[in-house]
Amino acid sequence: MLVMENNVYLDAFNLEQELPRLQKQSRLLYQLQLPVLPDLPKPETPGDFLDIGTGPGVFLSLLQKNPDFKDYRFTGLDLSKELLFVANLHNNNIHWVQGTAYALPFPDESFDLVHASFLFIHLLEPQKAMAEIRRVLRPGGYVHLVDINDSTFKGAEVLEKVVKAHGEVHAGDRTIMNKLPRMALKENLSLVRQMKVTVDNSGDLETPILEGYQLRLPPQMAWSLLSFMGQRSEVKQLYEQAKKEYEETTLPFEIQLQTQVFKKR
Ligand SMILES: C[S@@+](CC[C@H](N)C(=O)[O-])C[C@H]1O[C@@H](n2cnc3c(N)ncnc32)[C@H](O)[C@@H]1O
Repeated sequence: MLVMENNVYLDAFNLEQELPRLQKQSRLLYQLQLPVLPDLPKPETPGDFLDIGTGPGVFLSLLQKNPDFKDYRFTGLDLSKELLFVANLHNNNIHWVQGTAYALPFPDESFDLVHASFLFIHLLEPQKAMAEIRRVLRPGGYVHLVDINDSTFKGAEVLEKVVKAHGEVHAGDRTIMNKLPRMALKENLSLVRQMKVTVDNSGDLETPILEGYQLRLPPQMAWSLLSFMGQRSEVKQLYEQAKKEYEETTLPFEIQLQTQVFKKR
């Protein structure tokens, strides 16, 4: 299916520049979810799993190898043909489908578990996507949504300025996690679990350290949470100033990565 639609995410970036960062972020997201994945509510009988906005498919490919998910059949959907091409190169055991979150190309009640990470912040019509998720979920099915929430950002003033300026030019809503429970309820999806992991840049080793719900990243790695903002010409000047100061003395910052799990009654 050929989908002609704006991609808020890809329209803002050069894919070649963004892909390595995105793949790294997806691996990190998986590591972060790992300790909690077994605890997140999911159907008792494994069945069909859909990942919307799957991108290069890194998260789904890692999940497929996870023993807790071994009996699921996986489908990854994305608007971008280019990203699905990359996903398929890495893993051709997953059903990759081109399509949009606003009109999922699947019959009603075809999935037991729907997942989307770093998707909702890029959507112009999140309520429409939520309605589609409800439509394709089987009764008793769950939806796991994971996203960053800019309203939880705390840090040095120069960094806060970049985040705020970027939020103003970003076409989607980088604080959408604050609104999702209400949107979900409109679709008869009730919030059954939420998890908030605070990611900061206080790590002093080469690798990320997860202590409870606090993830400490080494400063350079943590910068990748902000580095994509530098691709926007509107915030370039502020971004370059912040980057320079960050390189001179690591400026502290933290932001929450939030997970919300909803159940279809
Ligand atoms: C930041 S990436 C996240 C990729 C992956 N979920 C992850 O966590 O690494 C956002 C993805 O959503 C896709 N996307 C954006 N708008 C979409 C839409 N309306 N329907 C389906 N996918 C969309 C983009 O093409 C991109 O692959």
